[in-house]
Order: sequence, then structure tokens, then C-alpha cells
Amino acid sequence: MKEVTMELTNVHKKIGKKEIIKGVNFSINKGEVFGFIGPNGAGKTTTIRMMVGLMNITEGDIKILGNSIKSNFHQAIKEVGAIVENPEMYAFMTGRQNLNHYARMNQDVTKDRVEEVIQLVGLEKAINEKVGKYSLGMRQRLGIAQALLHKPSILILDEPTNGLDPAGIREIRKYIRSLAENDGVSVIISSHLLSEIELMCDRIGVIQHGEIVKIQSLHESDEDAAGIVVSFEVDQAEQAKQLLMNELEADVQVRDHFVSVMLEKEKIPSVNKLLVDSNISVYQIQTTKETLEDQFFDLMGANTIE
Ligand SMILES: Nc1ncnc2c1ncn2[C@@H]1O[C@H](COP(=O)(O)OP(=O)(O)OP(=O)(O)O)[C@@H](O)[C@H]1O
Ligand SMILES: [Mg+2]
Repeated sequence: MKEVTMELTNVHKKIGKKEIIKGVNFSINKGEVFGFIGPNGAGKTTTIRMMVGLMNITEGDIKILGNSIKSNFHQAIKEVGAIVENPEMYAFMTGRQNLNHYARMNQDVTKDRVEEVIQLVGLEKAINEKVGKYSLGMRQRLGIAQALLHKPSILILDEPTNGLDPAGIREIRKYIRSLAENDGVSVIISSHLLSEIELMCDRIGVIQHGEIVKIQSLHESDEDAAGIVVSFEVDQAEQAKQLLMNELEADVQVRDHFVSVMLEKEKIPSVNKLLVDSNISVYQIQTTKETLEDQFFDLMGANTIE
């Protein structure tokens, strides 16, 4: 049995007359990195604000290590570290002074822990500079360091790689993976960078119009993957397209001499035979795995902004 760190049950949020979150259910397992994706205005930040107690839950509940954020707030929230929107930092203090300031507010955080998180996010060089002089990336790292100070069981990050350069993104990805794998921390991360999410996450949840439309594991073996795109190079592309559409009842794309269709691997030989038996010459067969971005657009349609 997987150990559940956080569980959302039938979570609704109404603001005024508008229902923004419409009965969301999912859970995050121990040591898992969960990607929370969806178009602008879908409800990611609103859901996250409820998870961290910045907003009331209209209906339903969120439990963290079994403690309800509604009825057992203090027990629940002490297991949460989060960055929602921009982390609040004092610009006139150094990075270290900011961390020490937070550490003083929490009895469980030792001086050693402050040094540990500084190293963890790779801020050793800049830690004695004033935060006012920090770049966006340095500020993000300091924010994550602060969120980790009290050793939370779950780390919640809303758009943590926003504004980071590729090297910064790569580093954040590395230590988020390490936090999950080596320290058993659960991480929920919202982002628009689907290629990043694909590299970093074990599972994703897709939200649209305030509803979860898909929950999916990533990096499972190819047989379990959503599908592979198979392209056949043929002499008569249009004829091949008609044939495959009729026989497979699938969506078939044509580009130059290539016809492409989503297939399971086991079906490739029979589809090839079908083409050849219909006197269509096949010159080559290529396979590509559908990326998360492709799947996302298949799911959302091209017009993804509310
Ligand atoms: N305080 C509020 N009052 C009224 N409506 C709100 C409020 N906060 C958010 N909304 C609405 O709720 C919906 C979801 O917003 P939310 O910020 O959760 O989306 P998001 O998924 O985080 O989007 P983005 O990708 O742009 O960050 C939007 O339609 C937004 O206009
Ligand atoms: Mg948001």
C-alpha cells in the first residue's frame, strides 16, 4: 500500500456566485513528485491556496497525514512547506538573515538546519548578500530554502521555475527529485512548462475549468504508455490514409509521404501488412512517443486559455 501524504476529497470553492473549483479529488503519495497542470485560470492556484490554508474550503476537505486542514489546522499545516506566488522576503536583509528570521519563529529549526537548506538549494555564494540585490532565480531558491526549513512532509510549489534560466531549472529539478527520492518528501508542483513537468514528475493531474480531467503516471514502461505515434513512409499517402481511417477508425495525419497514426506497438506488423496487401509500398516505419505537451493539447484542444 502506498502511503498517502495529502488527500483532497470533493473539494469545492465558490467565490461569490462563481464556482471556481468543482469537486476535486486526488491524493499525493509519500516521496512522489506530482505535477499539477492546466491552462491559465483553470484553478491551480486556487486549489493550492486551499491546501496551504490561505483560503477557506467551501465544501469537501483536505487532509495532510490524516489531519484535516479544516478541523485540525495546526497539526496539518506543520507538515506543509510552500511557495505560493512570490515568496515574501525582506529586501534590506541578507538571505541568511531572512532564513534566520523565519527560523526564530519556529522552535524546531536549528542553526544547522539553516546551513543545510542553504547548501541544498545552492545559495552558499549569495547568502550574505542583501535580498534586494538578488536575481529572480536566487529569490526562488531562497523561497524554497525557507519552505524547507521546518522539514515538511509535503512541499507545495506554485510555478517554482518561473523566471529561472535553463541551468537554474535543471538544478531545481535535481534537488526536487532528490528530496522526493532520498528524503521521502512529497512534492506538488504547478507549472506551465510541460517538458519540465515531464522530466521531473512521477504523476500528473490535469485541471480544467475547476475539474480534474486526468490523472496519469509518467515514465511507465512503453507498453503502458498512452500510445506511440507510428509514421509509415508510403508511395500513396492519401490512399493509405483512407485505408487506415476505415480499418482502424483512428485519426490519421498525412505529411508529404508519411501517414501517422497512434498505435500500440503490437499492432505495427498487422497495419504494415494491411498497407502492403493493398498494394501500397512501405519504405520505412518510424515511431515516436507522444510528449506530454502533445497529450495536453489533445486533451485541451488548441485554445487553452479560458
Ligand atoms: N479572489 C478571486 N475572486 C474571484 N475570482 C477569482 C479569485 N481568484 C481566482 N479567481 C478566478 O478563479 C479562476 C481560477 O484561477 P486560478 O488563479 O486558480 O487559476 P490558475 O490555474 O492558477 O491559472 P494560472 O495558470 O494563470 O496561474 C479564474 O477564473 C480566476 O479568475
Ligand atoms: Mg496560478
